[in-house]
Amino acid sequence: MSTRRNAVEMGRALAILRSMNVRNARIADAKAISSLVNYYAEHDRMLFRSLAEVYEGLQTFFVAEWDQKVVGCCSLEVIWSDLAEIKSLAVGPEERGKGIGRALVAAAVEQARELGLPRVFALTLEPRFFEAVGFTVIGKEDLPMKVWSDCARCPKQDHCDEIAVIMVLEHDARRDRGQAAS
Ligand SMILES: CC(C)(COP(=O)(O)OP(=O)(O)OC[C@H]1O[C@@H](n2cnc3c(N)ncnc32)[C@H](O)[C@@H]1OP(=O)(O)O)[C@@H](O)C(=O)NCCC(=O)NCCS
Repeated sequence: MSTRRNAVEMGRALAILRSMNVRNARIADAKAISSLVNYYAEHDRMLFRSLAEVYEGLQTFFVAEWDQKVVGCCSLEVIWSDLAEIKSLAVGPEERGKGIGRALVAAAVEQARELGLPRVFALTLEPRFFEAVGFTVIGKEDLPMKVWSDCARCPKQDHCDEIAVIMVLEHDARRDRGQAAS
């Protein structure tokens, strides 16, 4: 990439980060979420999510919005009392590498913290990204059986190439007590 193009890209990345909004998904975002996820599913990077599945799980989704457009999404699903999973993390192909994925993961992790969950994991083909945002690679065998429910509908179930990553959250005991009292 030329120096000038680099500078233009960098300027655009900074503009996006400054004015981007990461928020809980709304009904009007469902189609954009479904197309983002399914774009990567078609490239074999993640599992398909039908529009019906996105509506069903809408409350678990965050979106990154820039210039009134959804440029990224991810969901946080509670698996058990001590574990949540980041799923369907996708940033539009034009907008990758600008900090949007990091911002989406931060929002999901913050929600896990607010819910009082001690651990968040993901199954991913992008372990280096997750390491860059604070996760650690672990053996898939270290995850409980409960997390494998999606495997039944995965075309790669017999030759799974996903890598497990996890983040252990620190909790503010005072904040957790406040939540329990409210
Ligand atoms: C993986 C993905 C979500 C990352 O989002 P992104 O917005 O491009 O990533 P960010 O710009 O926030 O990057 C955050 C950090 O991760 C690093 N990173 C991002 N992708 C990386 C990769 N493939 N390999 C190594 N590091 C990577 C960046 O360099 C950055 O590090 P830095 O802050 O130290 O410079 C995005 O590329 C994507 O949608 N990929 C296709 C779908 C997919 O694979 N999703 C994951 C399924 S779980």
